[in-house]
Amino acid sequence: MISKKMLLWMIVSSFAAVLCLSCGKTERDGQNLIVSTEATFPPYEFRSGDKIVGVDIDIMQKVAERLGKKLVVEDTSFNSVITHVLTGKADAAASGITVTEDRSMKVAFSEPYVEACQLILIPKGSDVTGAEMLKNKRIGVQEGTTAYDYLRENVITDKTSSLISQFPNPSLAVEAMLAGKVDVVVCDQDPARMLYANNPDELILLTEPLTKESYAIAVGKDNPSLLNTINEVIREMKSNGELAESFRKNEALAKSMTSETPVSK
Ligand code: ARG
Repeated sequence: MISKKMLLWMIVSSFAAVLCLSCGKTERDGQNLIVSTEATFPPYEFRSGDKIVGVDIDIMQKVAERLGKKLVVEDTSFNSVITHVLTGKADAAASGITVTEDRSMKVAFSEPYVEACQLILIPKGSDVTGAEMLKNKRIGVQEGTTAYDYLRENVITDKTSSLISQFPNPSLAVEAMLAGKVDVVVCDQDPARMLYANNPDELILLTEPLTKESYAIAVGKDNPSLLNTINEVIREMKSNGELAESFRKNEALAKSMTSETPVSK
């Protein structure tokens, strides 16, 4: 005879087994390596024709090849790239993501592949000469980025938080600045350099680094084998020059494209 306790245990454990089966059946088990990104961030991710290209894409393409999977890149808002990893919509997020303490509590980060910082972009004629002059300025940033974190931690208080405007991408922030809606844009160094190169007549890029950041790829904390492969690929691409080459190639491509479609219309 099966005791009541035993019966209950059997029911609970079969429920758990069913749950486990279904949680294993995310897209992650398929033939695709799904990577989320926000593709307005050259040279790391940007659109070239109908394709998404960039340094992050080259890294993840190599990871996919190593795993015998097809790389599928999902373009979303920057605020969603890590959420997609957390909800299993994506296997990894590769989006020029800075490693932060907050984010590290949610996802596992690969080894860093780039050292970066925030820079200030201003329109010609601005009186801003450096970080100490950001107080009381209207500042544009890409939403959910470390530019916003930097401002909240160092410049803008709760009382003055309305001075920060968040935009879906860095070039919209620059457009708003050129239209006189914000005074300053704070943006990651490489996209800031590309925005500047695209419009040197109207913009000034200050060289003072506001932060010290490292970019890494984010994966679920439950996926150490994917993390291992990503780390292997990053190490290899660093040591054989492929990462530097990807950087050169994508920067040149992004520059040639942005000169066809200027930021300020
Ligand atoms: N490095 C910054 C951050 O992690 C900005 C990244 C934005 N990336 C992008 N693909 N738009 O917050």
